Amino acid sequence: MTDAELIEVAKKYRERAYAPYSKFQVGAAVLTKSGHVYGGCNIENASYPVTNCAERTAIFKAVSEGEREFEAIAIVADTSGPCAPCGMCRQAICEFRIGRIIMANLKGDSKAVSLEEILPFAFTENDL
Ligand code: THU
Repeated sequence: MTDAELIEVAKKYRERAYAPYSKFQVGAAVLTKSGHVYGGCNIENASYPVTNCAERTAIFKAVSEGEREFEAIAIVADTSGPCAPCGMCRQAICEFRIGRIIMANLKGDSKAVSLEEILPFAFTENDL
């Protein structure tokens, strides 16, 4: 699957965002090493911190289906530049060593970065 195809899946899931508070819809899609794709959207809550970001929804869906090995994750929102994952999601991306992070927006801008670029000096199991 190409980056462009993974972005398209993320866009589809963005439409499922439950974002009545921020109105900011985010979609994500993870590609596993075995070629499966899992999508996710942000899911907000009246108790704001309970909100789950699109990236973590997609990752948690995949992991709960037994997936552990990932190739890439795509993130899409209606941002002026490619949409970057938040800090908490970077940490979740790091946990599963998702090496290619594809940031995109609805205008067609996209940028792919590595895990090391997006989360330098990461806290990992090696620090415990
Ligand atoms: N959001 C994501 O889904 N992913 C991110 O990486 C950044 C933020 C969501 C959370 C919340 O529902 C909305 O965007 C505004 O912060």
